[in-house]
Amino acid sequence: VNVTYVLSDGSHRSVDGQIGQSVMETAIGADIDGITGECGGNVMCATCHVHVQNAADTVLPTMQPEEEEMLQCTTSPRSNDSRLSCQLVLDETLNGLVVRLPQEQ
Ligand code: FES
Repeated sequence: VNVTYVLSDGSHRSVDGQIGQSVMETAIGADIDGITGECGGNVMCATCHVHVQNAADTVLPTMQPEEEEMLQCTTSPRSNDSRLSCQLVLDETLNGLVVRLPQEQ
């Protein structure tokens, strides 16, 4: 499942992630700068904030209330395309996902 990360300097990193892994775990495994994932994916830190760039082409997992709540605590401003990447667990439908990393986590 291919995920492209747009880093804060504008460069792109394309990573093949495994089904069942989150976009946050995939980034950490690939040493992508800009995703911290401090709470380990427990929806308690908001340091895995990303902006989904191609939401219209993908079927994103439904946002749960905990994610909605944590998104109010992001360091960089939240926008309509904001998600917590630990809540985006890869499956085939997310192949080709593009996420932009915020300036700060
Ligand atoms: Fe902490 Fe996603 S890793 S909320």
